[in-house]
Amino acid sequence: MNRLKIKSLLTVSYSLSILIFLSCNPEKMKHEVTSPSGDLKISFLLNEIGTPGYSVAFKNNMILDTSLMGFEFVDQEPMNKNFRITGTEHDSSDDTWEMPWGEQRYVRNHFNRLKIYLEETTGMKRRMNIEFRVYDDGMGFRYEFPEQELLKAVNIKEENTQFKLTGDHLCWWQPGDWDIYEHLYNTTKFSEIDAISKRNHTSLAQTYIPENAVNTPITMKTSEGVYLSFHEANLTDYAGMTLKADTENLIMQSCLVGSERTEYKVLRTVPFETPWRTVQISEWAGGLIESRLIVNLNEPNKLGDINWFKPMKYVGIWWEMHLGKSTWAYEGGKHGATTEHAKELIDFAAANNIEGLLVEGWNTGWERWVGFEDREGVFDFVTPYPDYDLEKVVVYAKEKGVKMIMHHETSAAVRTYEKQLDTAYSLMKSLGIHAVKTGYVGKIIPKGEYHHGQWMINHYRKVLETAAKYEIAVDAHEPIKPTGIRRTYPNAISREGLRGQEFNAWSVDGGNPPEHLSIVAFTRMLAGPIDYTPGIFNIKLNPWKTDNQVNTTLAQQLALYVVIYSPIQMVADLIENYKNQPAFQFIRDVGVDWEQSIVLNGEPGDFVTIARQERETGNWFVGSITDENERTLNITLEFLEPGTGYEATICKDGKDAHWDKNPTSLEIEKMEVGNSSSLELKLAAGGGTAISIMKIKN
Ligand code: NOJ
Ligand code: CA
Repeated sequence: MNRLKIKSLLTVSYSLSILIFLSCNPEKMKHEVTSPSGDLKISFLLNEIGTPGYSVAFKNNMILDTSLMGFEFVDQEPMNKNFRITGTEHDSSDDTWEMPWGEQRYVRNHFNRLKIYLEETTGMKRRMNIEFRVYDDGMGFRYEFPEQELLKAVNIKEENTQFKLTGDHLCWWQPGDWDIYEHLYNTTKFSEIDAISKRNHTSLAQTYIPENAVNTPITMKTSEGVYLSFHEANLTDYAGMTLKADTENLIMQSCLVGSERTEYKVLRTVPFETPWRTVQISEWAGGLIESRLIVNLNEPNKLGDINWFKPMKYVGIWWEMHLGKSTWAYEGGKHGATTEHAKELIDFAAANNIEGLLVEGWNTGWERWVGFEDREGVFDFVTPYPDYDLEKVVVYAKEKGVKMIMHHETSAAVRTYEKQLDTAYSLMKSLGIHAVKTGYVGKIIPKGEYHHGQWMINHYRKVLETAAKYEIAVDAHEPIKPTGIRRTYPNAISREGLRGQEFNAWSVDGGNPPEHLSIVAFTRMLAGPIDYTPGIFNIKLNPWKTDNQVNTTLAQQLALYVVIYSPIQMVADLIENYKNQPAFQFIRDVGVDWEQSIVLNGEPGDFVTIARQERETGNWFVGSITDENERTLNITLEFLEPGTGYEATICKDGKDAHWDKNPTSLEIEKMEVGNSSSLELKLAAGGGTAISIMKIKN
């Protein structure tokens, strides 16, 4: 069968898998697969010594040059040369699946696939397959170790996957830390990436940066204006991948997160598949945010209907601890989590269209949680402090229609948490609590493990799976980065995994700069939902933290509810700061679960505007944010339903607003709009605009 024939066959028998075993010299042939639109083309080739490699073209221009692939092991020869191709497989798939909650309801999963079957020509003749899936918004590939006589298990010392860039692109990157993602982003040319200089970080409870590597997602812009973002999808029973930057040769190469306890970085029995290595590609920056490549490369929902979890806004006994107004620990006379205080917050939530309440510091153990070597056996996830009546609070919340969010800070004493998972979740189940925020502050115990290594990845998964059995959704802090697992386990609702709002309360380096979230939207947010905890109205944090502040305007704090996606959004400030604040109406109104999301404009590190339509009501919300520069953005509301009248409430920076000099200057304007309306948004330095667009009821 010749290749032309295969192509024509493909067009008729859509989705039909065709396996062809090529006979004559297949290894010399280039094997290609294009995206459904034809714009993206992957070519696979074995080089002269039989090393697998691929290249990627976008609209006929090379976007990734020949990039090699392979593995090194602890106890056997590397698998990186002397391969021959024993077969290839081409097919296509096009279906649509529904998100139980998300940025949009329906996701189209449309790709062409090429699978290459490889076998070594020498030695043990080990076999390995490589599968490519090419979408209109990017591509992914993964390695498969198929069942074979002579290879029963592998100790992977390193994966050698390359991404060879075609230019010295502008990059938005953070260091490839094995323990934390709470770094600021850097904006430099690829050749200027210097992760090592970021090693001595003052505000991190754990950090380990062994190489000049970056964390993923890393986002880039070529000189031709093409945007690329590199990440991974379906990180399961494997180590997290950082990318080593060979700044001279413009090559990124996988550098897996390891462990001090083992020589290998990944231990697996054969057969198995690696996570997908992904590249999102778009001619405009907003295309990266609209891309659903990462979730599409994950397995379908394994949990079925999870109607016990509904997206929500929540308040918390939380920010006050970060401000030093109260404490997690009972001792000292400033304990935050008291029955009375929880009830006060429940009343506030119930009165303001906020569905949830998080209470931190409710359980014993906070006297020895951070800065102690020996943290095992300290935290207990069932025993409240004496001034907190857990049952009473739960009953009161239920009466008021407010849902509790449990808190489990593990202080990275992971075995202690694992031992108590069933007891802790049974208690939650008996109380009717369906969400938990977990935390992993500090160096992992057992010593030698890192937050992003295989051992911890398996722990995070065990937590998700166990929680699902008890109908519990998980919001992990100090987590493993998201890789789209929420599609398979929709109880993985949100996570931290970035420098969150809390850094504005106490970091000694000035907090998150005004440009932070306009970079986050094009990097970390491409991976999945973020528990950023927006909504701080007392920007200067007086009187609690006179040396710290939030580095945005108040209007930007509102816009973040739309810009930063999460199915749970915290209303983070002390509730007294919302009293008599007209702008608070936006938070009461804003949705948390979306029918669709549209990026209206954006540029990494500069600005971004996103419009999202609420599932339940069909109302729209728009959020726009800028960096330290003021700017004017024009948007059209053509996404609104034609023939329908809407009332827009626009919360915008006041004329004299400025993130530092006048952050709370804000104006609210109301007007009628329709789908032919356009708006001019004037954002102050570090500012934003938040708009609710509600259908006018006749
Ligand atoms: C770090 C988390 O990010 C923060 O939200 C939490 O309050 C503390 N750990 C305590 O668990
Ligand atoms: Ca900028």
